Amino acid sequence: MTLAQRDLKHIWHPCSQMKDYETLPPIVIDHGSGVFLYDTDGKEYIDIVSSWWCNLFGHCNPKIGDAIKVQLDQLEHVIFANFTHEGAITLCEQLLDLIPAGLTKFNFSDNGSAAVECALKMAFQYQYQSGHKKKTRFMCLSDAYHGETIGALSVGAMDLYANIYKPMLMDTIAVNAPDCYRCAYGKQRDNCTCECFNHAETAFEHYGDTACAMIVEPLLQGSAGMRIYPPLYLKKLRKLCDHYGVLLIADEIATGFGRTGKMFAFDYAGISPDIMCLSKGLTGGYLPMSITVATDEIYNAFYADYKEGKAFMHSHTYSGNPLGCAAALAVQKIFREEDVLVRAGKRSTYLSKRLKETFADHPNVGEIRSIGLIHAIELVADKQSKRGFASDLRMGYQIYKRALVHGLLLRPLGNVIYFNPSLMITEEEIEEAIRRCVLAVEEVL
Ligand SMILES: Cc1ncc(COP(=O)(O)O)c(C=O)c1O
Repeated sequence: MTLAQRDLKHIWHPCSQMKDYETLPPIVIDHGSGVFLYDTDGKEYIDIVSSWWCNLFGHCNPKIGDAIKVQLDQLEHVIFANFTHEGAITLCEQLLDLIPAGLTKFNFSDNGSAAVECALKMAFQYQYQSGHKKKTRFMCLSDAYHGETIGALSVGAMDLYANIYKPMLMDTIAVNAPDCYRCAYGKQRDNCTCECFNHAETAFEHYGDTACAMIVEPLLQGSAGMRIYPPLYLKKLRKLCDHYGVLLIADEIATGFGRTGKMFAFDYAGISPDIMCLSKGLTGGYLPMSITVATDEIYNAFYADYKEGKAFMHSHTYSGNPLGCAAALAVQKIFREEDVLVRAGKRSTYLSKRLKETFADHPNVGEIRSIGLIHAIELVADKQSKRGFASDLRMGYQIYKRALVHGLLLRPLGNVIYFNPSLMITEEEIEEAIRRCVLAVEEVL
């Protein structure tokens, strides 16, 4: 029996219709190096999606690997209630200098969804313990994605993931999200003043008094198809949240750590959220770790004599795992020593130019949009009307399958194909990825 056959006997893969594996069996990866993955037959794949957006500096980066190996011989794990270790302390001290001002208290979990759950519970309990007991509901953007656990799914608004579970979910308020490609106000990206923000204003008028927090993916709605909206929207949202006493939660799980060109997407808006969720790039994609960071004001609402029952009784076995912290510290060291954001900025300019030269005139390319090194190509059936392909054609998936044949891991989001590579990718690697992408697109379209 092959490894793929043995896999299919027992493994239920994430986010997959397992029947699809009849025609596209799992690819068994043997090793990785930089942007490349190699299967057991020695075939090479360019990982242009950073293995679900977490692999920040390439596979098998020796600096991160070595830091984990050193930590492994010292301490693999320790209970994090009443115990601590130097790695976690130093990591928080270093992150404090990078994250938006005012965020000071770090609560560790072990994946992105868990960081979101933690943020939601924190916000709810903060309001309750601050005398705002009616503030119980959450607000989010339409087409938002914040993870797959029940709370995170409730503040997500993508039917693809949430529909079947609706009876289990919290009753949240979804505000119509900006859609800059299909702007309902006929604006272009360069002349917009966020006219669509009126949806948020109306929603807050109705629900602001009972809302406890609003959660957003800042500037980039990733799973919705890499939809990009302007920093002005966040600035306006900050003011609106302040007016109604609604906490603003920034889900920087996908956007954090340089993905958008700045360290955090919120940096573009020059404002701070009340709570911030971090994961993915935090450990360079090496180990599952996440952090929910809050302000002193929120923290202080939980700080009291034990008998008052105000503590945040929330925990995960692997909170603050020392191996994860070692990886995260190595990531921060690379950021400091290798001028990563400057280098990634140059690659981003190059990638934008080359994608536009290659695809802008294609009759089925509706928009090429980008922020940082993240570049998305929205495929449409009709360029003039911006009409998308019917979802049952699975156009993105057809291109994904052809791209694999050509050695490119180009996992789509519906009709959107995208590049979200390692921040260390070179121009040569970009060229090769585009070449393989062109072959796949041409074969399908
Ligand atoms: C914005 C955002 N939030 C939360 C999550 C959930 O993270 P995880 O898959 O680690 O649970 C993701 C994952 O893609 C994400 O993109």
